[in-house]
Amino acid sequence: MIIKDKEFVKYISAQDLTGRIKELASAINTDYEDKRPLFIAILNGSFMFAADLLKEVDVACEISFVKVASYEEMESSGNVKQLIGLNEPIFNKDVIIIEDIVDTGRTISKILDEFLSLGANSVEVITLLQKPNSNELGDKIKYIGFDIPDAFVLGYGLDYDGLGRNLKDIYQLKV
Ligand code: IMP
Repeated sequence: MIIKDKEFVKYISAQDLTGRIKELASAINTDYEDKRPLFIAILNGSFMFAADLLKEVDVACEISFVKVASYEEMESSGNVKQLIGLNEPIFNKDVIIIEDIVDTGRTISKILDEFLSLGANSVEVITLLQKPNSNELGDKIKYIGFDIPDAFVLGYGLDYDGLGRNLKDIYQLKV
C-alpha cells in the first residue's frame, strides 16, 4: 500500500489487535477490580486503541483525553513536551495513561512526571506498541500490546504525515 510517497506492508491484522486488546483489558479488569481508575488517552494516535480497549473494560472508570504539544526550544535543541487539555482533578486518582506507541519514551516520561506531581495515587501506562529504543524506561510501562522492531508503523490511529490513522490494520514501512 502506498501512503503519500512511501510503501507500507500489513504488519498486525485487525483480528490480532482485537485478540491482544481483549487480553490487556482482562488484565486491567483483574488489577483494578476494587479501584475506580481514571483513563487518560493521549490524542491523536491512541483514539482507536482507547475506544476498543475501553469497550472491554468492565470496572467502574472515568475516561478523559489530553494532547501532547511538542515545540523546539529557542535556545536548545531539546524537544519540549507540554500537556494540554487536562481538566480532570488528578489528586488521589489511580491514573492509567493510554498511549499508541512508545519510541524513545520521552513523551511518556514527561506525562508520568506531570501526573505524579499532581498528586495521583498511582500512575500506570498502557501502550499498544513499544519499540526497543525505550529500554531505559524499564518497568515503568505496565501493559504492552506488542513489542515491535524499530521501523516506522502506521494505521489504527497512527499516522504518517497526517495520513493512515483510519486504517483498521497496522502497517510497517517496507524496506
Ligand atoms: P517517544 O516520545 O519517542 O516515545 O515518541 C512517541 C510518539 O512518537 C508517539 O506517541 C507517536 O506519536 C510518535 N511515533 C513514534 N514512532 C512512530 C511510528 O512508527 N509511527 C507513527 N508515530 C510514531
